[in-house]
Amino acid sequence: PAAVIVAIDGPSGTGKSSTSRAVAAQLGLSYLDTGAQYRAMTWWMLSNGIDVRDAAEVATAAAKPVIVSGTDPTAPTITVDGEDAAGPIRTQEVTSGVSAVSAVPEVRTRITELQRTIAAQAQGGIVVEGRDIGTTVLPDADLKIFLTASPEARAARRSGELKGSDLAATKEALIRRDAADSGRKTSPLAKADDACEVDTTELTLQQVIECVVTLVEEKR
Ligand code: C5P
Repeated sequence: PAAVIVAIDGPSGTGKSSTSRAVAAQLGLSYLDTGAQYRAMTWWMLSNGIDVRDAAEVATAAAKPVIVSGTDPTAPTITVDGEDAAGPIRTQEVTSGVSAVSAVPEVRTRITELQRTIAAQAQGGIVVEGRDIGTTVLPDADLKIFLTASPEARAARRSGELKGSDLAATKEALIRRDAADSGRKTSPLAKADDACEVDTTELTLQQVIECVVTLVEEKR
């Protein structure tokens, strides 16, 4: 089958990562988690004493970290300056800072370039998940999916992942992050006009995976 480029966008808690990884693994495609790249950039800023609320400081530092993503969907990896970042990028501190960092145009330009290079080099095709993949990073993707779910469903899934967290607080933090991601000037979270929208509220993960696999197979 021909190399296929699949863009999967949507807010947090819609099952984007689980779906993208499973689809890529099932179809023998590469996989790229672009949120992990923005998190890696944010972790580097926090570790190097950059004030993530200071856009000018962030813009100047954006060129510095070397971020490398492994694209095997069964074992995705991410390093920053050669150091394993998979654990540290999932902390509360990084999650709270990432929307401010990812709103800075210099950060987006740098990471978008990385993403396009990885997609162009992926033999046999790739699934790329994020917020602006179908609209900005890969506007010529063969298939664009936009995943949605009710805020209640998204918060419930997130607190299921983060043990012991309380549901109301998770929902509030999630809604705040989505509002920041959707409201920013540069390349906001948005559904591309030609994206296929899948509301996952009432679907199991398995059903979402099957739905996306079918859509990809139609394109091959
Ligand atoms: O997907 P994840 O929740 O890990 O993404 C973390 C953050 O990275 C998002 O809240 C958003 O601020 C940023 N992001 C982005 N563009 C992407 C992917 C993620 O701005 N394509």
